[in-house]
Amino acid sequence: MREVHVVEHPLVQHKLTIMRNKETSVAKFRTLLEEISMLMGYELTRDMPLSRERIETPLMAMDAPVLEGKKLVVISILRAGDGILNGIMKLLPSARIGHIGLYRDPATLEPVEYYFKMPGDMTDRDAIVVDPMLATGNSAAAAVTRIKATGPKSVKFCCLLTAPEGVAAFHEVHPDVPIYTAAIDERLNDHGYILPGLGDAGDRMFGTK
Ligand code: URA
Repeated sequence: MREVHVVEHPLVQHKLTIMRNKETSVAKFRTLLEEISMLMGYELTRDMPLSRERIETPLMAMDAPVLEGKKLVVISILRAGDGILNGIMKLLPSARIGHIGLYRDPATLEPVEYYFKMPGDMTDRDAIVVDPMLATGNSAAAAVTRIKATGPKSVKFCCLLTAPEGVAAFHEVHPDVPIYTAAIDERLNDHGYILPGLGDAGDRMFGTK
């Protein structure tokens, strides 16, 4: 319960530093996000079950380990989630994909859903929900609540950066969902941005600032 996995691998940390740097170009930022996501995917899939399959090497037969064919769905929280999604799909090409879009109502500040598309067989699948920035945690928690209502076997949450406030708020609602992140930064500013952070992940990925 309330698990947080910080992926401290030097390659992840080095690439994250380049992403944080405001001089890094949009193209480089996107490439790095995809590369880090593949490296994080290594941790996210560490508990995937293996079975044995009889194969012939050029020299002899052996019982070799193979993935048990676990059914996965990787769910992107639009729009920045697509950056992590692209990296993870390179590792898990047969996983299914879901998308959820939420915006914050300016009057109530509550997350409002505007898009929701999941595979039909969610009850057979383990879900990995992705969004680069777990900041206030409100929209991530709302997205996971909605996804859980479709009945996946398990849910993991993967981000690039978070802050203590985001982790606490998310786990207040979903203590059973482990968080995978490359770093837990210092805090949020008054606008809900992560400090020191990397700015607006969507703008930096898509060049929309
Ligand atoms: N979303 C972002 O893109 N950046 C933050 O720092 C917080 C939320």
